Amino acid sequence: MPTTRRVLLLNGPNLNLLGTREPQVYGSATLDELVQRVEAFAQAHGIEVRHLQSNHEGALIDAIHEARAWAHGIILNAGAYTHTSVALRDAIAGVGIPTVEVHLSNIHARESFRHTSLIAPICIGQISGFGVYSYLLAVQALVYHWQREGSSSVP
Ligand code: DQA
Repeated sequence: MPTTRRVLLLNGPNLNLLGTREPQVYGSATLDELVQRVEAFAQAHGIEVRHLQSNHEGALIDAIHEARAWAHGIILNAGAYTHTSVALRDAIAGVGIPTVEVHLSNIHARESFRHTSLIAPICIGQISGFGVYSYLLAVQALVYHWQREGSSSVP
């Protein structure tokens, strides 16, 4: 794989509350701790991570659009927008950047309204249910994807 890869790590609504938000569901790590773990893991794979958390759909969409200029991949936990946002789905489909959908909790083992992801069909895959480790698996999934694709999609 060529030089440094750059990944947009995008966390959606309510994920700023990690650490105190339903810890029995989402664990005790704060968002800062989560981001630090992802950054350290990614760095060991030669990947630079840029992170944004927003509670606003439009801000997430803007970040996805801007990523066209620099990102080789996106790791996206869209929170509840996973289940509702056609606009986010269209943004990911529109930029064509390989995107891994992640969830801390296993959305398929929870309420039925969480079983549907509008985003999953246009992502390269979905990782759900492994807490912070879901994000580390997503880094590995991108590395695997780039290797398999022959790294042709460099901005
Ligand atoms: C979540 C699962 C979503 O259903 C929920 O709305 C979230 C977090 C997760 O990481 O498990 O906000 O994306």
